Amino acid sequence: MKNITVHDKAFKPYLQKEAIQARILELAAEIDKDYQDKQPLFLAILNGSFIFAADLFKHITIEAEISFIKLASYKGTSSSGNVITAIGLEENLRDRHIILLEDIIDTGKTLHSFLPELIQRQPASIKIATFLTKPEALQYPITADYVGFNIPDKFVLGYGLDYDGLGRNLPELFILDEVAS
Ligand code: XMP
Ligand code: MG
Repeated sequence: MKNITVHDKAFKPYLQKEAIQARILELAAEIDKDYQDKQPLFLAILNGSFIFAADLFKHITIEAEISFIKLASYKGTSSSGNVITAIGLEENLRDRHIILLEDIIDTGKTLHSFLPELIQRQPASIKIATFLTKPEALQYPITADYVGFNIPDKFVLGYGLDYDGLGRNLPELFILDEVAS
C-alpha cells in the first residue's frame, strides 16, 4: 500500500483490506450469536457506513433486515442544542431489536443527539456497531457494543469514509500523515 494525496492532504496506509475483512467476519459471527431468533433490524447511517454495512450484512447468517437512514440536524428547543433526526426511516421500530451501523464514533455527539429520537419509537433494544472509534476524542457518553477498530485521534479516510467527498471507494483505511501534510 502506498501513501496517497487527496485534495491537499497526504495520507498513509493504516489498515489493510485483509485485516478489515477479517475483523468484519468476527463482528458478524458475534452478532449472529447474540441475535439468534431476534430478527434484528440493522439501521445503517449514510453516507459513511454504506461499505461497512454491506460487508457486515453479507456475513450475517441469521434472519435479519436492513434499512438505510440519513441524519439531519436542526435547532432544538432543549438546552442540549441541536437535535438530530432520521430521514428515510419508514419502518415501525416498536419492539424491534435495532443495531445501528456507523462508520466512526468520534466525539459521540451525532449518536448522542440521535438516540432520544430512536428511543421514542420504543424498540425492544438498541445496540451500536461501528467500524471505528476514536477513544481519545470521545466527549459524550456513547458506548459502542461492536467495534471494528479503535484508532488514534487523527483524521482517516477510505472504506466508506471521505475527505471532502473523496476517498470512500478505497478498500483500505488511510490515516492523515501530519508530517507530509
Ligand atoms: P461524532 O463526533 O459526532 O462524529 O461522533 C461522527 C461523524 O463525523 C465524521 N467523522 C469522520 N469522517 N474521517 C471521516 O471521514 C474521520 O476521521 C472522521 N471523524 C469523524 C463521520 O461522518 C461520523 O459519522
Ligand atoms: Mg464525512
